Amino acid sequence: MEKNRSSFTGKLGFVLAAAGSAVGLGNIWRFPYLAAEYGGGMFLLVYLILAVTFGFTLMTAEIALGRKTGLSAIGAFRALDKKYSFIGYLAAIVPIIILPYYSVIGGWVLKYLAMFVSGNGIKTADGEGVFFTGFVGLVGEPILWFGIFILATTLIVLFGVEKGIEKASKVMMPILVVLTIGVAIYSIVIDIAEDGGAGLAYYLIPDFGKFSPMTVVAALGQLFYSMSLAMGIMITYGSYMKKDVSIEKSVHQIEIFDTGIAFLAGLMIIPAVVASADTASVGKGPGLMFIALPKVFESMPAGDIIGAVFFILVLFAALTSAISLAETIISILCDKLHIKRLYSILIVFVGCILLGLPSTLGFGVWGHIMPLGMDFLTFFDFISNSVIMPIVALLTCLFITFVIKTKTIEDEVELGGKFGSKTMFRVIIKYIAPVFLVIILVSSVINGLIDAGYITGKLAEFFAI
Ligand code: TRP
Repeated sequence: MEKNRSSFTGKLGFVLAAAGSAVGLGNIWRFPYLAAEYGGGMFLLVYLILAVTFGFTLMTAEIALGRKTGLSAIGAFRALDKKYSFIGYLAAIVPIIILPYYSVIGGWVLKYLAMFVSGNGIKTADGEGVFFTGFVGLVGEPILWFGIFILATTLIVLFGVEKGIEKASKVMMPILVVLTIGVAIYSIVIDIAEDGGAGLAYYLIPDFGKFSPMTVVAALGQLFYSMSLAMGIMITYGSYMKKDVSIEKSVHQIEIFDTGIAFLAGLMIIPAVVASADTASVGKGPGLMFIALPKVFESMPAGDIIGAVFFILVLFAALTSAISLAETIISILCDKLHIKRLYSILIVFVGCILLGLPSTLGFGVWGHIMPLGMDFLTFFDFISNSVIMPIVALLTCLFITFVIKTKTIEDEVELGGKFGSKTMFRVIIKYIAPVFLVIILVSSVINGLIDAGYITGKLAEFFAI
C-alpha cells in the first residue's frame, strides 16, 4: 500500500471530484450526436438500461479495486496478482488514444468561442454545417486551435495550477448546468412551436424499428467514455477515497449527475436539428453540436452573449477532463517508466500534437484516408471506445470473478455501509457482463469490417441502423 496518499475530504468531495472528471465533452458533444445517429429514443433507452446495470457494476468494481489497494490501475492489478498487471497497462492505453482527439474537439470549442466573443457567432449559424465543414476542412486554423488547447492543458499541468482550474470549475459547472437547462427549454419550446414537438418525440420516444446491434455497441462505448470507465481512471479515484464513505451511494450520485447532464445536452441539441423522425439531418456526426447550437443561439434574444458564455463553460468542462487525462498519462510515464516529470509533460505535448494531427487533417486534406471506412477522429474514437474499453471491461470482470473473487469487492464496498445491490452486482460481473461484452466486441469488429467493405449482404443489413 502506498503511504501518505491524501484522501478526499468528506463524501461530497469525492463525488464532486469524480463527477468533475466524468463530465466533459463526452456528455455535451458526444452523447447528443450518438443519440441522434442511433435512433433517438431507442438509444436513450438502451443507454439508461446499461447505465443502471453495467455502468453501476463496473464503476463500483473499479472504485473498490482502487480503494482496496490504495493504488492506481497498473499498481492495483499488480498488487492483487502480479500476473495481471497487463490489464492495468491495457487500460492505460485508452487515455493515450483519447487525449489527442479530445484536444482536436477542444480546439473546435475554442474556435467557436472566439467566433461568438468577437461578435461573429451568427456566421456559424447556417444550420447546414457549411461553416463547420469549411472550418474543419482547413489545414492551418484547426491545427492552431487544437495546438492552443493542448498547450493550455500542458501548461496548466506544468505550472501545477490544476487546483485553481478545479476551483474555478466548481463555480462554472453549476452555471453550465443552469444554462443547459435554460437552452434546453428554449429548444423544446421552439420545436413544439415549429414542428409540433417532432424533434422532442424523436429523442424521447423509443422506436423499436430503429434498434440494431450497433445501438448497443454505441451506447456501451458511450457509457464507458462518459463515465471514464474501463481506462483505470475510477481505480485511481477510488484510491483516494476514505474507507467509511459509501461506494454504492457515491456511484449512484456520479451516475445521476453524469447521465443528467448528457440527457440535458441531448434535449438542447437534438430537437434543434431533428424536425421529424425521418429528417436526414440526424446523421451530422461529430459536428452535430457545432451545427445545432449556433442556430439555437441565433434565434435567441442576446444569443451572441449566451453563446459566448456557453462555449466558455464547455471549454472549462473540456479542460478539466483534458487535464485529468494528461495527468493520468504523465503519472504513468513518471512512475512506471521513471521519466522526469518535465520530460513526461513534454512527451505528452509532442505526442498529442503528432497523434492529433491525423484526426484534424482527416476532415480535410487527409479526408481520402479512411481506416475501417472512418475518418481518423472517428477511427481513434472507435478503437478506444468500442474495442479496447470492452476488452478492459471484460478482463476486469474475469479478474474479479476468477482471480480475486467477487467477495473481495463486496467486502470493500461494505466497509462504507450496506451493499444494497450486491446480488445484481454479483450476477452481472460473473455471468451477464462477460457474455455480453464478448457479443459487443464481436459486433464492433464485424461492424468495422462492414464499414471497411469486407463484409456485405445479409449480415451487413442486420447491422445497419
Ligand atoms: N468522461 C469524460 C467526458 O465525458 C472524458 C474522459 C474520458 C475523461 N476519459 C477520461 C476525463 C479520463 C478525465 C479522465 O468528457
